[in-house]
Amino acid sequence: MALDLHKRILSAEVQSSKAGSQVIVAGWASEVKSLGKIAFIKLRDREGYLQLVSTDFKLIGRISKLTNESVIIASGKVQKSKAKAGGNELELKDFEVLSLAEPKLPIDMSGKIETDLSKRLDYRVLDLKNPKNLAIFKIRSQANASTRDFLLANGFIEMQTPKLVAAGTEGGATLFQADYYGKKVFLSQSQQLYKQYLLAAGFDRVFEIGPSFRAEKSHTMRHLTEFTHFDFEMAFIKDEDDVLKVLEQWFVFLLKDLKVKCKKELELLGTALEIPKLPFPRVTYEECLKLLSTISVKLKFGNDIGTDDEKKVGELVKKKYKTNSYFITKYPFGLKPFYIMTDGEVSRGFDFEYEGEELASGGQREHRVDILTKQIKGKGLNPKDFEFYLMPFRYGMPPHGGFGLGIDRLIRYILKLENIREAVLFPRDPERLMP
Ligand code: 4AD
Ligand code: MG
Repeated sequence: MALDLHKRILSAEVQSSKAGSQVIVAGWASEVKSLGKIAFIKLRDREGYLQLVSTDFKLIGRISKLTNESVIIASGKVQKSKAKAGGNELELKDFEVLSLAEPKLPIDMSGKIETDLSKRLDYRVLDLKNPKNLAIFKIRSQANASTRDFLLANGFIEMQTPKLVAAGTEGGATLFQADYYGKKVFLSQSQQLYKQYLLAAGFDRVFEIGPSFRAEKSHTMRHLTEFTHFDFEMAFIKDEDDVLKVLEQWFVFLLKDLKVKCKKELELLGTALEIPKLPFPRVTYEECLKLLSTISVKLKFGNDIGTDDEKKVGELVKKKYKTNSYFITKYPFGLKPFYIMTDGEVSRGFDFEYEGEELASGGQREHRVDILTKQIKGKGLNPKDFEFYLMPFRYGMPPHGGFGLGIDRLIRYILKLENIREAVLFPRDPERLMP
């Protein structure tokens, strides 16, 4: 190769280079146009597009043989573009083909032809070439980084917990099971057990951003069989409101940070992030039922609020509190897992809701082993099956609470994506294991 790859600069750097300077760029020839006396290559790289132009007949001949999506390295002189959009372009001096693409592409990535999501996912790598998709994953990457920044600054320790586990924590119905040298093994549904272990060990504040697995045979816009779980737990809380305070502060910090650090990507997606006001309303479960009764939805204490009604609660809350971010608190214990602390029938479990959809679930945990044992029995479960869970509670467990939140849902909701699958690189659902 005659052109030096180490001298490559990105398209965005060409925009800030002086006219007349000689540069080297590399990327994909997203569009190639040869018009006889002039030829254009619309080069795409990680930072965007750059127009390469040539009036040299030898180069024009070579350009006309170039296929869309071939990878090239090119050298040329920076000049002001005559196009309406302005900016800089490159007057091509030379180029080399590093990888020639086949002439027919299975899907259109330019966004000009609409392709249904399922087909896009079949050719996900090609689909990800669309700069709008790259923007989604740059934002997702920053969201994880901002989350880490916030938590590490607030005394949290990042953990990595096992994904191959001997038992479930979120109910048997959604467990994936496999063979483990003749024994049963399950894919972890949540970090619940391990984050509590670490608080028993004295870590005080922990979090993880890692995969969780749910055998949910549902085909919805918000369920996957593998999702990225942001799980969080803190010790020495007075009640669940201590957790809500950190959660709402993290959420506002995150949105503000993304607004600054992902300005370009958000503009490309045409998405304005709305920053909700602190504190978020604490809407009790009882209040949700009352709000629903005003639109003639009659639910009794203990009834689950289904997806459609949950959405309606979102609209009613928006009307009353002028916000899209709120907590549903004080759920009946019957609707929450055995490990949540209760005050009689009412539990200390909550959900974090965004636009009427669940983004996180959490609560204060029961840390007193005798009461916890009773709660396990109360749910019709056998405490003997939970000895692995109960053991650390016998040797000093502080009062504690936390939550679990789906990063995939988070990205979907804040970017207003129609389907959770658009927020995941290679989504997994009951039908999809490839690519
Ligand atoms: O509501 P979930 O099941 O709660 C727990 O896992 C508890 N251990 C949390 C706690 O600390 N008490 O899951 C937490 C969040 C959900 O609110 C949702 O955002 C996401 O994880 N989630 C899923 N995301 C995509 N696909 C699925 N199948 C999901 N299941 C849960
Ligand atoms: Mg939940």
